[in-house]
This record gives sequence, structure tokens and C-alpha cells, in this order.
Amino acid sequence: MSQPQGGILPEPTSSALFLILRVRNPAQDVGAVLRVSARVPALVAKVAAADRRSRLVGNIGIGSEFWEVISPAKRPKRLRPFNAIDRRAPNTGGDVLLHIISRRPDLNFELAMRIMNELGDTVDVIDEVHGFRYLGTRDLTGFLDGTENPKGKQRAVVALIGEEDPDFAGGSYVFTQRYVHDLKKWATVPLREQEGTIGRRKKDSKQLTDKVRPATAHISRVVIEEHGEELQIVRHSFPYGTLAEAGLFFIAYTKDLAIPEKMLSRMLGTSGDDLHDHLMDFTRAVSGATFFAPSLKVLRSLALHHT
Ligand code: HEM
Repeated sequence: MSQPQGGILPEPTSSALFLILRVRNPAQDVGAVLRVSARVPALVAKVAAADRRSRLVGNIGIGSEFWEVISPAKRPKRLRPFNAIDRRAPNTGGDVLLHIISRRPDLNFELAMRIMNELGDTVDVIDEVHGFRYLGTRDLTGFLDGTENPKGKQRAVVALIGEEDPDFAGGSYVFTQRYVHDLKKWATVPLREQEGTIGRRKKDSKQLTDKVRPATAHISRVVIEEHGEELQIVRHSFPYGTLAEAGLFFIAYTKDLAIPEKMLSRMLGTSGDDLHDHLMDFTRAVSGATFFAPSLKVLRSLALHHT
């Protein structure tokens, strides 16, 4: 399989920078944007070399509409725009995603600046989110996030496209949503009720037993079994924000966008059983976008075809 981009499989470290960009004039600037995109892995390597211990990695993703300009005839089979679910899960789109992770926010910034300088005035920033670690790996609700994330070799199985789409093997689809939490409201909820909302114990993430875990708990809604197997995604989410506005930048890598879509539909109560995820009573999605993060080989070839 072609080599995936470097930030998909490693477990995320302690800080992240997410940039969602719109290409100003896609038909005119497609070549320029692709040339910079193809250089991203080299730029990541260069900045990472400044401090190996920072474990700096980065990915670039391309949105569905922009892919239509790049190569309408040859598309990753399952690439499609974010499937909005009314106003509670808006599709805000984006042509390019930059996802940078390391132990040093200053190096994340340095890399983002270099890439943005090369992109010049071909793009506008739609959203910029600086993620930080909160009390270990907790979400701002205080619950450990990532407990049941796929580990080790399973991460590649879950995230990477394989033989089902050989031209794009080693690539991955990306599902993003920025959530703004109502932390004041959350703080008024007693511990037991918070635990029932997530479906896990707060102190150590131990799963509540089936007997006590509500059907409306977050994990009750997102754990879906199909043909005897649990649907999985590789989550890379980070808390972000200021005291005025804070929440979770949710981001997942998957070989099939239908998987996070099904989870979200069960969270928002549109999957047909009249239940919704009660965590959604304390947070709202303000953005939603999907991307395709090509393998290193495809990333290089895209630029060559547009010179
Ligand atoms: C405000 C947004 C969200 C918050 C605060 C949140 C928080 C959490 C927490 C605390 C857990 C339990 C620990 C763990 O296994 O990681 C969890 C699990 C999980 N979440 Fe979320 N989540 C959010 C949105 C989403 C969305 C949008 C999806 C899918 C589209 C999702 C999918 C999952 C999955 C698949 C699990 C693992 C379930 C398991 O196998 O036990 N989450 N989330």
C-alpha cells in the first residue's frame, strides 16, 4: 500500500493546529495550490528537524468540490461533501485542510506560517483552531477522550483506504466538526448525570454497565454493530478555545465517510429510533466538512499533472 501522510497513524501528542482554507479562484489557482500541497510533507520534515522530540507531523486534505476541479474523471470513490443534518450539523465546507500535531505549539505555528506564505493569496482561511491538551487527554467536559480509539495496527485498518479503491489506497477520508460547548450549563449537572450522559465514569473512563447506562448516552449512540463488527473511526480531536468560546475540534480519519455519518445521525436522533445523544444538549456544531488526505504518492502525482 502507498505510504499514508505522517499525521494519520501516530497517536496525537499534546497540541494541534487545524486550518480550513477556501481556494479563492479554483480554476485559475489549482496548479499553484497543488504544487504547495505536494511540498507539505517536505515542509513538515524540515520544521520537524528543528526538534525531533517535538514529534511534529502534519496532513493535508482536499475537499470534495475542489477535487472536482483537480480531477473530475478520477475521484476517490467515497469522497463527498459533508452531509448536513439540519441546522444542528451544518456543512460549512472547505477546499483544503491542514492538520498539524506536535508537542510544540510554536513549531505548529511555524509550519502553518511557512505553508500559508507559499499559498500566498490563493486561499482564504475559513477556520483556524489551536488545540491543547486539557488535564491529560480529557475533553473540556472533564471526561477522558480517546479511551476506545483504535490502537496499534488497527489504526491503519480503520483509517486507510485499501484494495476497495486501489488508485487511492493509503489515502484516508477526514470528517471534521467544530463543537462549541455550553460549559456553564454542563457545570450545573451532577456527576452521576454527567456520567449517564457520556456512558462512562468520569474519573477513569470505566464504561457504565448495560443495566445503568442510558440508551441516550454518547457511547450508547456511537457504538454501532454491523454484521457482528463494531464500526470504527480514528479520532484525533482536541479541546480548543478561550473562556468566551470553547469546545472540541472533532476530527476523525476513516476509510468510509458513511461510518461517522451513521454515528452522527444516531447522535442527532435522525436514525429512526427517536433517541438522541444527550451530550448534544450541552454542545453545538458550528462547522462541518469532509476531506480526502491522499497518500504521499498521489499527493506528488497530483502536482505533476497540473504543472
Ligand atoms: C462535542 C463533541 C464530542 C465529545 C465531547 C465527545 C466525547 C467523547 C467521549 C468522552 C468518549 C468516551 C471515551 C472514548 O472512548 O474516547 C467518546 C467516545 C466516542 N465518540 Fe465522541 N465525542 C464527541 C463527538 C463525537 C462525534 C461527532 C462522533 C462521531 C461522528 C463521536 C464518536 C465517538 C466514538 C466512535 C467513540 C468510541 C465509542 C466506543 O467504542 O466506546 N464522538 N466521545
